[in-house]
Amino acid sequence: MSAIAQWIPDFETASGLAREHGTPVFVYDGPTLKAQAEKALAFPNAYGLTVRYAMKAAPNRYLLEQVHRWGLHFDASSGWEIDRLLAAGIEGKKISLSSQELPLQFAHWLEQGVTVNACSLDQLERIGQAAPGSEIGVRINPGLGSGGTNRTNVGGIGSSFGIWHEYIPQILEIAKRHKLTIFRIHTHIGSGSDPAVWQRVARMSLETVARFPDVRVLNLGGGYKVARIPAEKSTDLQEIGAPVKSLFEDFAKQHGRELKLEIEPGTFLVANAGSLLSRIQDVVDTGAEGYRFIKLDSGMTEILRPSLYGAQHPLHIIQEKPAAAEQDYIVVGHCCESGDILTPAPGDPEALQPRRLPESAIGDFCWIGGAGAYCSSMASGNYNSFPLVAEVWHEGEGEFRLIRRRQTLEQILQNEASLEA
Ligand SMILES: Cc1ncc(COP(=O)(O)O)c(C=O)c1O
Repeated sequence: MSAIAQWIPDFETASGLAREHGTPVFVYDGPTLKAQAEKALAFPNAYGLTVRYAMKAAPNRYLLEQVHRWGLHFDASSGWEIDRLLAAGIEGKKISLSSQELPLQFAHWLEQGVTVNACSLDQLERIGQAAPGSEIGVRINPGLGSGGTNRTNVGGIGSSFGIWHEYIPQILEIAKRHKLTIFRIHTHIGSGSDPAVWQRVARMSLETVARFPDVRVLNLGGGYKVARIPAEKSTDLQEIGAPVKSLFEDFAKQHGRELKLEIEPGTFLVANAGSLLSRIQDVVDTGAEGYRFIKLDSGMTEILRPSLYGAQHPLHIIQEKPAAAEQDYIVVGHCCESGDILTPAPGDPEALQPRRLPESAIGDFCWIGGAGAYCSSMASGNYNSFPLVAEVWHEGEGEFRLIRRRQTLEQILQNEASLEA
């Protein structure tokens, strides 16, 4: 399946957004996000489904409240994310925590109905000591990974996420000692779209579930890839989900347990719903043998994925009078950092890959697509002291609403000490 259609504003709309909010500004397209949420909620399942939004992808409160209203639950990756959800009025029972760092207050959240997946043997031990007798989930590293690059692959021997599958006897021993009931097995192996891999993971995860008699829920994590550019492939949830559903039915026949399915997509929901409206602030070149560069007024301060993974984002130049000619450009960000580039080679952040774009000039807009997931939330905010930018929600049909103000200099400085104070 090719890249899903992404909403792109015309020159007038882009100018209006820039006038009102400045550039760069993140724009989240409500109708696109809703359509993706509906697809996720239709994931094939045999005995019930909970879709958790992996909020690390984009944690703006307005967005959390919207997906909550549409019936999604939440996957949090830190205690701070739990607090953010609770502050948005979301009940603890709709929140699940899978965290590399077990927050100190976890027992307090367990009392509020938050469920926790122990992600290491030591986490399990600490939960057992602090809250003996509780119900708990366990994140397993099934020994298999799937992902575009080593940076997005979170299963297998190279990954520290979850408890290595050979340590199940130790899990059972700790649980028994602290009278913990293991009600959920969780696996999340990374961003892949290959149905065969999902089927293998589901099968392996069900074999794991068979070893835990009290498990009622299997969470298969996120990692459902979407195409941001035409060369990439989107995951078809119906295609990967159908065999998973049959495997759950086989499991029920064999073990007499009807397991509930959980999935927790981030990328799938928001990646193509979010874009960054940016402005070209310079155009330079390095001579006849060199490159022609577009310099934006944004960069790794908003979108780090190209520098980190060699990720590809669609770039659309928006001009009052569309240029007839095209040129090859390297598009770079505004930080004093050679890694701050928007056009690396696919999967190789070290290599420059020129992009064919309309002949561009200072002041033209550059609309960076596929920027909803792991952009605003993950970028190197405040590097070179650039403020965190505004975020806007597109209700559809040209109706916008400001959902995060641009950070002020006072906010950047407010926690710093001064010799004068
Ligand atoms: C435990 C867990 N669940 C869900 C996700 C969401 O993954 P994606 O955004 O690729 O769907 C992640 C991402 O890192 C994760 O670590």
